[in-house]
Amino acid sequence: MDTSLVRKYNIPGPRYTSYPTVPYWDEHSFSVDRWKESVCRSFRESNEREGISVYIHLPYCEQLCTFCACHKRITRQHSVERPYVDAVLEEWRSYLALLGEPPVIRELHLGGGTPTFFSPDHLRYLLENLFSLSRIAAQPEFSFEGHPNNTTYDHLKTLYDLGFRRVSFGVQDYEPKVQQTINRIQPFEKVKAVTDVARSLGYQSVSHDLIFGLPFQTWDSMARTIEKTNSLKPDRIAFYSYAHVPWIKGVGQRGFEESDLPSPDEKRALYENGKRMLEDSGYIEIGMDHFSLPSDSLYASMKQKTIHRNFMGYSSSSTQLMIGLGMSAISDSWYAFAQNHKSVETYLQQVGQGILPLFRGHVLDGEDLVVRRHILNLMCLLETNWESPEMALPQLPGILARVVEMEKDGLIETGDKFVRVTEKGRNFVRNIAMAWDLRMIRQEPQTRIFSMTV
Ligand SMILES: C[S@@+](CC[C@H](N)C(=O)[O-])C[C@H]1O[C@@H](n2cnc3c(N)ncnc32)[C@H](O)[C@@H]1O
Ligand code: SF4
Repeated sequence: MDTSLVRKYNIPGPRYTSYPTVPYWDEHSFSVDRWKESVCRSFRESNEREGISVYIHLPYCEQLCTFCACHKRITRQHSVERPYVDAVLEEWRSYLALLGEPPVIRELHLGGGTPTFFSPDHLRYLLENLFSLSRIAAQPEFSFEGHPNNTTYDHLKTLYDLGFRRVSFGVQDYEPKVQQTINRIQPFEKVKAVTDVARSLGYQSVSHDLIFGLPFQTWDSMARTIEKTNSLKPDRIAFYSYAHVPWIKGVGQRGFEESDLPSPDEKRALYENGKRMLEDSGYIEIGMDHFSLPSDSLYASMKQKTIHRNFMGYSSSSTQLMIGLGMSAISDSWYAFAQNHKSVETYLQQVGQGILPLFRGHVLDGEDLVVRRHILNLMCLLETNWESPEMALPQLPGILARVVEMEKDGLIETGDKFVRVTEKGRNFVRNIAMAWDLRMIRQEPQTRIFSMTV
């Protein structure tokens, strides 16, 4: 790996789980009424054709992992479960009243925090009530995030019986020193046990999350983690770049010094080595940060160009409308985004008052919708084109001027009406997408928002 390229392109940048990215949402474009209108429009256009997606954010965790950048609330009090589940159902009922007829749920994802903090009984209660007011698509895609330390047989069986066939386990790293530093002691045997149980129950896709760039990781330790991961052969692997964002309030990244983190060059080498080991074992790199066995649907979706990227990362399919429930959840009607309050208390209070617990959002204009497609193409398919007139943008000359240097560096190939990311450019796809990010380019650079791109 060319370290001079790492130095040149390692700048703060978005991960493009949406466009516009959240810090560049235009609050003035948004109102709850406009949000509701866009949800109804999207629902009318897409419910019968493809159904909708539901994301449920379940924020509680028993213990803080000191690397974590997710929206979570740490508590050991399980009495919080029932009031939270009731609030999510209340929020769902507000959406049902708005939609007017039962939605067809095709995709459902439980994220967190830690969904498996909740008891299997509370999860069943939540989902049975959610389903009783909806229709379920013929081939549903239901998935959840499980913490290996507290995912039980009963969790896996209960969710399997409710239609879940996909689970991702947070693994992060197996090295004792790294685990101690990130306050997450999690033996290999635990991960093996939950992976085996999921498979024996019939889960079709088991995914493991790993992170490179954590404190005290070395080439050797990373190789040991990848070897252990390979021995369990998860169908998918998310190999995330550690996002170090301690300046964001409430994240709780502490317990180690900046100097304990690998340098940018070392961090990239960790990735390169890990990638080589995974590819040698039959994994195929998908988009950015993800690997899949050829038998998994994520690989097929990349081949068929149906792969999608959203706030949860890559997915093998998508719907036009995604309703996010729970504290901090983001909803996407394709025409607009909306985010719920990030404080559990405010969320519960607003739902209790019968109002949608939204605190910000963005309504996409015509330009946003085109840029959004280009950025999705780049992040998912590593190429984009403007052969059809609806993909043309008046700003294309400026965009292409911004990628000239990247072409010289061999990160992209350009043609008359396309840009394609090269193998060398894969690591810099966030930088390449930034050339299309017209909202960011128009505003003053705000450097302390994003993690580094490499
Ligand atoms: C909500 S958590 C996973 C579910 C469960 N809470 C657990 O820890 O197993 C989702 C994933 O986000 C990733 N993640 C969290 N903070 C991160 C950070 N700062 N940088 C990179 N990835 C991060 C981790 O890999 C984690 O498994
Ligand atoms: S990594 Fe998972 S368990 Fe740990 S604090 Fe974050 S959300 Fe909670």
